[in-house]
Amino acid sequence: MKAFRLMPVAIGIIALFTGEASAADPATVNWKSVPTKTVALFYPAQSTYQWLRGADHAGAPVVTGGGACLTCHKDAEEKLGNKLVKANKLEPTPVDGKNGVVKLNVQVAYDKENAYFRFQWKTNNPYPGEAYPFYRFDGKEWKTYGAQKLAAAVRKGEQPGVYEDRLTMMIDDGGVPAFAGQGCWLTCHNGERDAPNQPSAAEVKASPFFQAIKKADVRKYLPSTRTDELASWDKGKSLEEIAKIKAAGGFLDLIQWRAHRSNPVGMADDGYVLEWRNFDAGKNMFSSNMDAKTKQPKFMYDEKKVGKKALRIEDIRKTSTVLIRGQTAVPFDPNAGWKEGDLVSQYVVSREDAAGSAADNKEAKGVWKDGMWTVVWARKLNLTNPDDKALVEGKVYNFAFAVHDDNVTSRGHFVSFPATLGFGVKADIQATRLK
Ligand code: HEC
Repeated sequence: MKAFRLMPVAIGIIALFTGEASAADPATVNWKSVPTKTVALFYPAQSTYQWLRGADHAGAPVVTGGGACLTCHKDAEEKLGNKLVKANKLEPTPVDGKNGVVKLNVQVAYDKENAYFRFQWKTNNPYPGEAYPFYRFDGKEWKTYGAQKLAAAVRKGEQPGVYEDRLTMMIDDGGVPAFAGQGCWLTCHNGERDAPNQPSAAEVKASPFFQAIKKADVRKYLPSTRTDELASWDKGKSLEEIAKIKAAGGFLDLIQWRAHRSNPVGMADDGYVLEWRNFDAGKNMFSSNMDAKTKQPKFMYDEKKVGKKALRIEDIRKTSTVLIRGQTAVPFDPNAGWKEGDLVSQYVVSREDAAGSAADNKEAKGVWKDGMWTVVWARKLNLTNPDDKALVEGKVYNFAFAVHDDNVTSRGHFVSFPATLGFGVKADIQATRLK
């Protein structure tokens, strides 16, 4: 851990020598001078794009016409979340003990080079969700172990509920029609994971559109990339048409701080939503820990640092479960005398491996204390990558926030209605200009 804390300093020194602007440390911002906006996030259950436009939603005609959710649902987050999180027509698989609402404290500042964000929210559990599902040795083979709480295996009690906490921002600069009024709900569709009418893996594989985009499951997408009025998952436009939408800026930035796969190396990921939920070009700070050829993990824990080569289920929530290359991870030894129940993480994390546009969020750090995450994050202004929405002084953006809490992924998160965020411009959330 020591080595990591020194890293920003090292980067600063390298920057001095290369004449490059240094990556700013968001922890050094005087956050007391930056106003806090509290945004209510709520559990959306299966309120998909298609449901919102269907006969069961009283607001369907207005939504179909591109109208804003807040026209009818202003200050309704608590009522919606507390109802939707329990069993109801939009929630076929409720998670026991789950809260319906999360209050997210948001602070935003900026200077010449960076936007700075600070977030705080309470977790439902008395521990940080830093673990990710594992590979478990069953005496013969390494098999996936643990899953998010919406998964059937967890609901049936066959697997423990394990997933990392996350903080997500979706950013639109006006390039995505209706995002200002309908936010994330443009991206959430029937057919996606844990949504209604989810196709089988074979059905996805047989879809010519999914063959063209080379994806094996359905994830967030924008209606503009589909051909039919209800934007069906499998009715995609041609790759050429989708490339044109992207070039014209018709996509959303989607950037995520992840408690397991990015936070331990002080980063957040960088993706975008268009025909799918893509990662930016380059390489993420996390990669699979499974060797496809040997069917064995690539890395195990460094015994000198972690005290053991593999964890056991009793260790979770007591010790860090993250495999950091060069710090807590060393190459896997197939002859280490593995025992049934041994666990290693499904991912290996590395700051040095991250590259290109996927590595833009180099300064994001969360600390969990007394039941609360505090995440600070710097994002460079004026990015020029074709898969980013450049944040620019003098401009206003539509933001949507999400938090994944208590071992869930996919739609098991809390989401906000969209809000405007301005850098030197009047907006729902106004970024404070730092000197
Ligand atoms: C023209 C008004 C109107 C608009 C616009 C509208 N809704 Fe609704 N919505 C309603 C009404 C009325 C109901 C049913 C009564 C209620 O629960 O408030 C409802 C119900 C819902 C429910 C189910 C709540 C429950 O109690 O089961 C969800 C979820 C929802 N709306 C989400 C949205 C979202 C997301 C948007 C924007 C994409 C939206 N609505 C836009 C009027 C609207």
